Amino acid sequence: MSPAIKAGKRPFCMVSEMSQSTQAHTTPSVALNSKKYFETTDKTSLIVTLKDSQGILNKALGVFDKYGVCLTHIQSKPSKFYKKTKAYDFYLDFEGCYEDESVRNIISDLSKMSKHLTLCGTPQVPWFPTNLYDLDSTGKEILGEGTGIQEADHPGFRDEVYKSRRKYISDIAYKYSLRDEEIPRIEYTDDELGVWQHCYPKLKKHFQKNAVKEYNDTIKQFEEHCGFAEDNVPQLEDISQYLQNTTGWRIRPVAGLLSQREFFNALAFKVFHSTQYIRHHSVPEYTPEPDLLHEVIGHGPMLANEDYAELSHMIGLASLGCPDKYLPRLGALYWFTIEFGLCMEAGQRKAYGAGILSSFGELDWCFSDGPKFLNLDAEDVAENHRDYPISTVQPYYFVSDSWADARETIRQYCDSIPRAFNVFYNEESKTVEVDRKIKGIYTEST
Ligand SMILES: [Fe+2]
Repeated sequence: MSPAIKAGKRPFCMVSEMSQSTQAHTTPSVALNSKKYFETTDKTSLIVTLKDSQGILNKALGVFDKYGVCLTHIQSKPSKFYKKTKAYDFYLDFEGCYEDESVRNIISDLSKMSKHLTLCGTPQVPWFPTNLYDLDSTGKEILGEGTGIQEADHPGFRDEVYKSRRKYISDIAYKYSLRDEEIPRIEYTDDELGVWQHCYPKLKKHFQKNAVKEYNDTIKQFEEHCGFAEDNVPQLEDISQYLQNTTGWRIRPVAGLLSQREFFNALAFKVFHSTQYIRHHSVPEYTPEPDLLHEVIGHGPMLANEDYAELSHMIGLASLGCPDKYLPRLGALYWFTIEFGLCMEAGQRKAYGAGILSSFGELDWCFSDGPKFLNLDAEDVAENHRDYPISTVQPYYFVSDSWADARETIRQYCDSIPRAFNVFYNEESKTVEVDRKIKGIYTEST
């Protein structure tokens, strides 16, 4: 699956250790006039201006010890009139609400030692899911409505049987909940099996030579544990189970293309949205949209590798509550790495991108002398490469020297996105935690 890039276009396809005591408590997401809303309820934020002098910071922080309150975030910068006052502004986020006696005591003590103290308001950010099951309220509207087959050049446009089949499979996705025991299995038709039988063995011939080692390793595991075989279409449930037992990722079936925000937000919970239908049998090597083959052959194996899956997770976490303007930037980053990324391996370019590994045309083209190859720099990709073809092969690809290099440049870019809070994923509780008081409000982009 790929996030939708732009309406009307068809896409192919300061984190630190946080102790238990610094978990954010958010009110559950609730329907509020049909809009989603949440507010963290147990954090206080303030700015304290302290004159630069020996031991003053220790003295200020000692107040939190005195009242047994945990700081969740601290940041400092010279105050506006530093040259004259020699004072610093300290931005402090800590546990507790204004009504708590300990919080009032802290404010009182800090006021006595500071030049100014300002109690901060609650920034509003675009709503985002705060626990795994919030995702059940997302993905209910896909771009293109209904079956997604609206365009005359879609191979299935005039095939009523195919359209009805797509609707049947889409309805399964709409009804699915992450609380369900398993993803419903599809009994694939002979036409659908024929598409798989045509594509999988042929694509597989490319993998040994052109895919990164990690991909080839997991394809073997998928054949052993997930029903990958030349004469069998694998089931999302089997792949999801395997992923949960290895990297903690899971699959959620989806009816079609999601908004960028919904698609990326799910990645923060290690949830990958996957279509379950198969492209039209008349053109087995072509699909104008992501389908099961793209998802399970392209994305599946890389989600089973801890290192590569981390790239998707970082992009997912960065998308939570991020300003709208950063969504297409994250989209470009995802496109040129997770979808079309290349990585050097023993001096050779190898593919790890799902859009390459699931496409005959892309596999031939990207290992020819035709395209340009650029070094992966996340800032450059996000700022200068947000326009790219979605229905032809890529004119250029971004290559990283190693997975670690790709991770580092993506991490740096994600950390640079301005956001009023920091966010952490709690693997055990499948929740995200924020380090300050915020309100999540549903917006058009949510
Ligand atoms: Fe994709």
